[in-house]
Amino acid sequence: MEKPNFDSLRIEIKKILNEETGKDEKLKKICRFLKEEVYYYNWVGFYMADNDRRELTLGPFEGEDTEHKRIKFGSGICGQAAERKKTFLVKDISKEKNYLACSPLVKSEIVVPVFKNGELVAEIDIDSHFIDAFDEEDKKFLEDLAIEVSKIL
Ligand code: SME
Repeated sequence: MEKPNFDSLRIEIKKILNEETGKDEKLKKICRFLKEEVYYYNWVGFYMADNDRRELTLGPFEGEDTEHKRIKFGSGICGQAAERKKTFLVKDISKEKNYLACSPLVKSEIVVPVFKNGELVAEIDIDSHFIDAFDEEDKKFLEDLAIEVSKIL
């Protein structure tokens, strides 16, 4: 995959996070920005974690609407990432049995947990129409983004 300039993406995201707007608007802007800037980020969204109910709820996103507005911990890639509390990268979703399909176009997916004071508070979820779209650079970029985002949650 031809990679974006992650450093300039980081700079623009910091600007969005520093804007005088509400939390949801910032998250939505980040989704829109990443989807527009990175051609292989085809659905970008946030899920919010409810640790008492052990459930994720769809937050701001950019891309096709999804039926998966609530996901139980353990279910699908998002739910597995919530349970493991670790980034979950699936290079080829056709090989992942515990998967919740959103669009037949999706070929690979990455889910990155967002922590606040050691507790899972959200997840960044990105779907790609390309197989094996995400590498270590994407993972690092998105894990750093999770740290930045956690400051406004
Ligand atoms: N594919 C995800 C569900 C969320 S959609 O990608 C928006 C999963 O398996 O958890």
